[in-house]
Amino acid sequence: MYQVCPSMLSADFNRLGEQIQILENTGAEVLHIDVMDGDFVPSISFGMPVIRSIRKESKMFFDLHLMVMEPERYIQDFVDCGADSITVHAEACEDVLRTIQRIKEAGIRAGVAIKPATAVSDITYLLDEVDMVLIMTVNPGFGGQKYMHDCSDKIRELREIISREGLSVDIEVDGGINEETLPVALEAGANWLVAGSYIFSGDIAGNIQNVRYHMQRYEEAGVTA
Ligand code: DX5
Ligand code: ZN
Repeated sequence: MYQVCPSMLSADFNRLGEQIQILENTGAEVLHIDVMDGDFVPSISFGMPVIRSIRKESKMFFDLHLMVMEPERYIQDFVDCGADSITVHAEACEDVLRTIQRIKEAGIRAGVAIKPATAVSDITYLLDEVDMVLIMTVNPGFGGQKYMHDCSDKIRELREIISREGLSVDIEVDGGINEETLPVALEAGANWLVAGSYIFSGDIAGNIQNVRYHMQRYEEAGVTA
């Protein structure tokens, strides 16, 4: 199953409700929500109050990407705010397996994210536990960076393992996705496509349609589950 995941980080926060409404009207199902703590990454984005208030207005699937040190401390808070999925960074957790188990116990989807410098082999032991692996294709912390082409090999490597083992784990790609890099990430085996600056600059609905157009070819070919 392929999903386009607009990243709220690139939205115009002065018109946030309106822009989420546009996403919903185009039929986008997943909203990617980047939480940054100024410690794991240099920047600070937003937290619980913002998520709680958009939850009241939106039926989208809230895909939280926590760029936060020791995220285990906040799992229950984010579940209470309305998260449908929580992805934590392997590099940020004291005990990533336990953190993933806590997320699952809370009854939502769990994902593990890796930075460009972290190897796929570091997280393969988690593949029986997670619903999704997020492969970062930029260094986390900011929108609008360039796709790091070296990371495509990691997507390919992970897709091979998932297919070989017959697992149902989604591969989310995040960072520098635009019309040129989208086919590259799809070809490598990603099926959840995060895009921030690309979707929110100019015609939001048109940009989502473009992403969908590329995804459809892969969907029809049935490359992933
Ligand atoms: C970066 C975030 C991304 C970001 C992507 O650390 O995790 O989700 O919003 O932005 P673009 O698509 O502009 O690279
Ligand atoms: Zn993200």
